Amino acid sequence: MTELPPKPKAREGRVSLRQYAKLFRQDILSAQPAKLYHAWMAEFRTPFFRSFLINQPELLKTVLKERPMDFPKSGRISEGLRPLLGESVFLTNGETWLRQRRIIDPAFEGGRLRDTYPAMWQASLAAQKRLAAQVGQEVEIEEIASHAAADVIFRTLFSIPIEDEIASEVFREFRAYQRSQPILNVAAFLPLPRWMPRFFRRDTKAAAKRIRGLIKQLTDKRMAEIQAGTAPDDLATKIMTTKDPETGETFTSEEMVDQVAIFFLAGHETSASALAWALYLMALYPDWQEKLAEEAQSLGLSGAFSEVSKLRLTRDVFRETLRLYPPVPMMVREATCPEQFRDRKVPVGAQIVLSPWHLHRHDRIWSDPDAFKPERWQGEEAKTCGRDAYLPFSAGPRVCTGAGFAMVEGVLLLAVLLRDLRVERVPGKDPIPEAHLTVRARDGIVLKLRKRTAEN
Ligand code: HEM
Repeated sequence: MTELPPKPKAREGRVSLRQYAKLFRQDILSAQPAKLYHAWMAEFRTPFFRSFLINQPELLKTVLKERPMDFPKSGRISEGLRPLLGESVFLTNGETWLRQRRIIDPAFEGGRLRDTYPAMWQASLAAQKRLAAQVGQEVEIEEIASHAAADVIFRTLFSIPIEDEIASEVFREFRAYQRSQPILNVAAFLPLPRWMPRFFRRDTKAAAKRIRGLIKQLTDKRMAEIQAGTAPDDLATKIMTTKDPETGETFTSEEMVDQVAIFFLAGHETSASALAWALYLMALYPDWQEKLAEEAQSLGLSGAFSEVSKLRLTRDVFRETLRLYPPVPMMVREATCPEQFRDRKVPVGAQIVLSPWHLHRHDRIWSDPDAFKPERWQGEEAKTCGRDAYLPFSAGPRVCTGAGFAMVEGVLLLAVLLRDLRVERVPGKDPIPEAHLTVRARDGIVLKLRKRTAEN
């Protein structure tokens, strides 16, 4: 039988709130019971609030697509992220959020991706070059993927590579920030009293301030270039010069800091996680790795945007990776009206947990849910389950702004890396998935790198 890709052990039996909090802090995936892979809905009662996890496609449709304004983002998430992200589009609700999306969305539209592509292409070549220098070695691929994804963000947003002084400083500070803020992981879902997540550690706050200070240098400089008419035509210029079609206003330099912080956080952690897992899966299933290498080689990639749509197998592998290891494993919304979900009454203030992690491996929806089967994306399942039970980028008006961007970036990086290099598993070092803000591996993802030559 083909080996299944790694999946964390589910929690066994019932646990007290205190035990749950402890498990949750360690990893939000293994803290959950196995029944969530089978149930349409589950309820968690806590002394502080009630929360409902929903897996049923109709309910997900109600919350995300039909009545999203009745289910705003939960304030519990905002608390944890606010020192870093301020009033960014990821955290806001209502009118503020609508206005921000009106300004941001045009920068990520399909046509615009074509303009962004050359910067992505350069970033993928740079990543390939960095990896090629480590052939023959065991490498920690999450670190490398983070570096590559951060490079993509800086090149596409500000036309600067990751080697730029401020860019590399932001990247370094972000890593320190992520290490220093354990509360961030728990704040979103844990049944803690409202005041709890406000206790940020002092170093976390200081790191957030430093990161924002660095980003402010970039947005101030860009604002000056826009005013002088010398700004490059990249995503930052596009966003900073787009007028809200309703009010005619543009973002101030300060507001742009919030948005850049989220583009960086949402756009590099997630893409890095997806790329790292995709490369691991290629090491686990070498037949697929060969197919992808062949596909990239036969296309003779030259940097033309039209080539990406021809990387069909690579896209199927990337989609399957996002199904098995959705970088954002869970999302939380809040009920603002009393609701009836299935046979349960959902009170105002209840937390609604949407879990791509469980939905994507739901045993009543997907065939062979834990198996790696990229071919499913060419069959009937792609249409049905792909539409109803696949939420790596969420769905509805609040869908990830970078979804199209990320699909091009991920497929391109995978193709360019596998065209020239081969990745291999290292015995005894298979990764164990766990999730804090994104799905990562407990001890990283270690792979051996080989040069791809005609003979091997
Ligand atoms: C594989 C890569 C990515 C994945 C899996 C991903 C996933 C997601 C998900 C699930 C959400 C919704 C979160 C929620 O509702 O709680 C989201 C939101 C968002 N993402 Fe992504 N994302 C990716 C890449 C990107 C990139 C590259 C960018 C930008 C450059 C980006 C920018 C955003 C923003 C701004 C939001 C907030 C949208 C809103 O709330 O209106 N993401 N992303």
